[in-house]
Amino acid sequence: MWTSPELMQPEILQFHAVLSQAATQAEEALEAFLPGSDTLLGAPMRHAVLSGGKRLRAFLAMESASLFRVPPGQALRTAAAVECVHAYSLVHDDLPAMDDDDMRRGKPTVHVQWDEATAILTGDALLTLAFEILAAPQGGIDPRIQVRLVGRLAQASGVMGMVGGQAFDIAAEKNSAALDIDEIGMLQALKTGALIGWAAESGALLGRQDPAPLQRYAADLGLAFQIQDDILDVEGDPERVGKQLRKDEAAGKATYVSLLGLEGARQRAHELAERACAHLAPYGSAARNLRLAALFAVGRDG
Ligand code: IPE
Ligand code: IPE
Ligand code: MG
Ligand code: MG
Ligand code: MG
Repeated sequence: MWTSPELMQPEILQFHAVLSQAATQAEEALEAFLPGSDTLLGAPMRHAVLSGGKRLRAFLAMESASLFRVPPGQALRTAAAVECVHAYSLVHDDLPAMDDDDMRRGKPTVHVQWDEATAILTGDALLTLAFEILAAPQGGIDPRIQVRLVGRLAQASGVMGMVGGQAFDIAAEKNSAALDIDEIGMLQALKTGALIGWAAESGALLGRQDPAPLQRYAADLGLAFQIQDDILDVEGDPERVGKQLRKDEAAGKATYVSLLGLEGARQRAHELAERACAHLAPYGSAARNLRLAALFAVGRDG
């Protein structure tokens, strides 16, 4: 998955292994939480969640939990929950009324494989499943922490988070006046940053520690990650990215690339990744994998 020379460094190759280990663990947990393929909506839900994906958000949830020595079983729930919300957001993002995409993670989107009603309901079911996973009674965890996690995930997913950002994105598409750089930053912080933020802060909430440094890290990481998504839309290889590319410009999407050009966007993404790493100073060497995640976010080709 890595092509840029800086990312061929051995430590980044180690990060590849760390990310894929987190992905495997999160997928095992998801496998158990999702309904079987033979149940109503089970097959499209499994298709949406289990058909690949980098699992960056699951990794962030698990890695932030490990900073605070949270039992891995608790982190697997936050990892699974955030991947369910993320998968739902993608199913709805791909609908004809939204970005109208036929491919996701190298496979047909849910509305193509099934139909639109199924895709809408699959998204709804995944969103609510995330909250079911978080709210289920668990030994060894203070229910007040569960309520906090649920409340923060609701905020990150809703109108003050991902959904708000998606609404802003669609409105900007239809608006003749281009957004300025602050408005684009706000749009992307909502549509992409909020869920990444929840994943990163969840470990601190579980560990009863101050989430502020991780929130600052995730705000910069989330923006850098979305800028790289927008860069890949222009110059990525569709086979590697697993989705249709070269669509944002024609759709009139407001992105850093539309405003700053490719080079300007690339530079901004790298500055943000560096700043993300600087926020991790309080954790010292324990945050090594989180630093590598920031490098990965801007160097990835898929
Ligand atoms: C795609 O997210 C949508 C964005 C917010 C940029 P990812 O690039 O994390 O998608 P997967 O989970 O790896 O497929
Ligand atoms: C979507 O951003 C972010 C979501 C909240 C799903 P994009 O529309 O750019 O994501 P892709 O490129 O379709 O994955
Ligand atoms: Mg979109
Ligand atoms: Mg899209
Ligand atoms: Mg995109």
